[in-house]
Amino acid sequence: MNSVKNVLLGVTGGIAAYRAPELVRLLRKSGIGVRVAMTKNAELFVTPMTLETVSERKVWRAGWQEQENPLIHLTESNDYDLALIAPATANFIGKLAGGIADDLLSTLVLALACPVYVAPAMNPRMYSNRAVVDNLDILKKRGFIVIPPEDGETACGEVGEGRLPQLPKLVEIVRHGLGLKSDLEGVKIVVTAGRTEEPLDPVRYLSNRSSGKMGLAIAAAAQGRGAEVILIHGIMSKRIPENIKSMPVRTAREMYSAVSNAFAGCDALVMTAAVADYRPAEIAPNKIKKKEGRRTIELTENPDILASMGQKKTKQIVIGFAAETENAVNNGRKKLLEKNADLICVNDVSRLNIGFDSDFNELTFVTKQSVRQSGKLAKRILAEKVLDIFVELTSEVKRTATGGNE
Ligand code: CTP
Repeated sequence: MNSVKNVLLGVTGGIAAYRAPELVRLLRKSGIGVRVAMTKNAELFVTPMTLETVSERKVWRAGWQEQENPLIHLTESNDYDLALIAPATANFIGKLAGGIADDLLSTLVLALACPVYVAPAMNPRMYSNRAVVDNLDILKKRGFIVIPPEDGETACGEVGEGRLPQLPKLVEIVRHGLGLKSDLEGVKIVVTAGRTEEPLDPVRYLSNRSSGKMGLAIAAAAQGRGAEVILIHGIMSKRIPENIKSMPVRTAREMYSAVSNAFAGCDALVMTAAVADYRPAEIAPNKIKKKEGRRTIELTENPDILASMGQKKTKQIVIGFAAETENAVNNGRKKLLEKNADLICVNDVSRLNIGFDSDFNELTFVTKQSVRQSGKLAKRILAEKVLDIFVELTSEVKRTATGGNE
């Protein structure tokens, strides 16, 4: 399951289409995945290649002959959480009101399952034309959400209502429509995820079963809530979305050095990575050959990244994940103290169908003040819960710092 929200941006052929690439960039920066579908006339103002570059996804163009899949308007229709037509021309609004489906975007809109937002942008006289006003009323009655244009000087030099709203305002409307909170703006979060690998020889290594899904869900959720995120990751079973800033590492020691470098400048560290506690004491330069009888691998201890950052922390909130097969609460408390963490999310790895490689998990949240059970939830919902506790912990720190006089 992908935890990143996906928006379909429909670009139609008005002068404001030149702002579409920047709109795509801003939506993506706020953690939203964007697919662009454009009309033929939109291509007179902005090229598909520009939009493809900024969205990092193939652009759906007007004709079916440009697509690989002739049923694309149907197969795609359930893939979006929200659609935004911006700019929406008088012509396109008329087509939507009349239920006309004569290109890919207009056909796709008829098949969409998600809410559709329409941002008209045109000359003020055209915008106040009876036909356009009536068509917009029809759309509103059918459940489309119309974003009114702004008043001001339009591209043609006339003054009045018709300008596409400021792009950050459009992004805010989309975020609100997607139910995304923006409470982590200005917050820098380092998230670790995946499994480390400890080489034994050029072809073998020690590792574990972690998929990296929980860390990815936290990185995506934090970015969606406005945080600046860096995902430092070992081996992952899932592709990292292009809009998440990430740094790959292999071994525990590599992860230690990447986290140490990023830690001083961050506000929170979330260690979901399954870090190998030990590594082979020696890495054989050549493939180890088979021999008769038992063999022993000598192991040496890896640095404990969480404990080390827990010791170094100044203002940072430090969050760990504990994999336990018994005594979840007691072991969680022990790790909270030993690693000087602010929150330990205990994960019962003995249970089937949750945890490793699953899209679901059940966590026990242990802080100095409380113990809470999450119940079985999708990892992307759990990610939001972890961030809610981070927000709580931050406000507790602020309250303590101001002597409770905030
Ligand atoms: N962790 C770490 N560095 C390590 C080992 C673990 O930073 N070398 C972090 C993990 O990312 C996790 C937390 O410590 O957030 C707890 O990991 P866990 O494997 O449950 O605990 P360990 O400290 O390894 O203890 P044990 O294996 O004995 O339960």
